[in-house]
Amino acid sequence: MTARTRLFQPLTIRDVTLRNRIVVSPMCQYSSENGFATDWHLVHLGSRAVGGAGLVFTEAAAIEPRGRISPLDLGIWLDEHVPMLARINTFIEAQGAIGATQLAHAGRKGSVGPPWMEPRGWVTPDRGGWEPIAPTAEKDMPYYPLPHALDADEIAVLVQQFADAARRSDDAGFKVTEIHAAHGYLLHEFLSPLSNQRDDRYGGSFANRIRFLLEVTDAVRAVWPEGKPLFVRISATDWDAGGWTIEDSVELAKILKTRGVDVIDVSSAGIGRSPLESAAQAPLYQVPFSERIRREGGVLTAAVGLITTGTEAESVLESGGADLVALARRYLGDPYFPYRAASQIGEQLPWPRQYRRATL
Ligand SMILES: Cc1cc2nc3c(=O)[nH]c(=O)nc-3n(C[C@H](O)[C@H](O)[C@H](O)COP(=O)(O)O)c2cc1C
Repeated sequence: MTARTRLFQPLTIRDVTLRNRIVVSPMCQYSSENGFATDWHLVHLGSRAVGGAGLVFTEAAAIEPRGRISPLDLGIWLDEHVPMLARINTFIEAQGAIGATQLAHAGRKGSVGPPWMEPRGWVTPDRGGWEPIAPTAEKDMPYYPLPHALDADEIAVLVQQFADAARRSDDAGFKVTEIHAAHGYLLHEFLSPLSNQRDDRYGGSFANRIRFLLEVTDAVRAVWPEGKPLFVRISATDWDAGGWTIEDSVELAKILKTRGVDVIDVSSAGIGRSPLESAAQAPLYQVPFSERIRREGGVLTAAVGLITTGTEAESVLESGGADLVALARRYLGDPYFPYRAASQIGEQLPWPRQYRRATL
C-alpha cells in the first residue's frame, strides 16, 4: 500500500528500511536488575512495535555499570545481557518494526534513584550505587554527588566499552544503534564548556571537547556493520550563552557525517537547568534545531520534543524540519500512537491481523 502522507513513507538508510517515520524515543523504565532487560521491556517495547512504530528504541543502555543513571537502568556491558535483548528485538522485527539500542553513559548524573524515590539524590555504594565519573570533578545539580574526574587512560577504556556495547547490539540482532551524547550525560559533559574545564587534549577548544565523542564514534563505527545505520543523539543547545550552541551542533554534525554517522537525533539541554529552556517548552520547540542541522549539515535528522499529534508530526516532515519524528511521553500513554496519527491525517494503516476488528 502506498502512503499518501510523509509520516507513513518508508525510509531506507544503508541496508535498513523503516516502514514509516515514527520513532519510539528512548525512555528509561527503571525495570532492570544488574542491567538485565526483563519481561517489562519485552511487553513495553513489543507493544509499541505492535502499535505500528517504524523504529523502536530501547531506553539508554549503559556501557558499564557506572553508566547507568539509576541502579535499575538497562545495561549492555555483559555478553549475558544479549539473549534477552535478542528476544526483544526478534519480537519487534516480527511486527514489522526495526529495533534500536541507545548506547549510553550517565557520567556525573549517575547513581541517583528512580523518579519515584524521594528525596532525589545519591544512591550511595552501600545501597547499590557508585561514585559517578565526569570530565571535571564538579556536580551538576546539588542533589548529584561529586564525580571523579577521568584521566586519559580511563577515557580510552570507555571508548572500548562503547565499541563492545555496539558489538553486543549487533549480536542481539539490532539493526540500528545510537550513541547518546545528549541531556547532560557523559559525552555531552565533554562537549559543553559548562561542564568541561579540562586542560588536556579533551578540554578547552571545540576540537578538544568533541574528541571523546569522535573517538567513540570511530570505535563504534569500526565494529558496527557497514549496512547498519548509526545515529547520534545530541543536545543541540545548552540554552545558555556560555554553553554548547546550535552553531557548534551544525559543525559537529558535519564532522560526524564524515565519520559514518547517518542520523543526528536532535534534542536539547541537560546540563544544569536553564530557565530559557523551561520558557521555550511548547509544541515542536526543538524542531528548528533539527531543521538547521539537517539543512546546514546536509545530514538526516530526527526531531523530538513535544510532538504529540499526527498533524504535528506530518508538519515537521513537510516543512523540512526532520526526516524522522521521535515521541516519548505521548508514547507512554499510547502504544498505538501511529494508528491515532494515521486517522488524524487521513492515512490508512492496516491493523495486525489479530487486531483486525479493532477500533480507536
Ligand atoms: C520516562 C522517560 C525516560 C527517558 N529516558 C531517556 C533515555 O533513556 N534516553 C534519552 O535519550 N532520552 C530519554 N528521555 C527523553 C525522551 O527520549 C525525549 O527526548 C523527551 O521526553 C522529549 O520528548 P517528548 O516531549 O515526546 O516526551 C526520557 C523521557 C522520559 C519521559
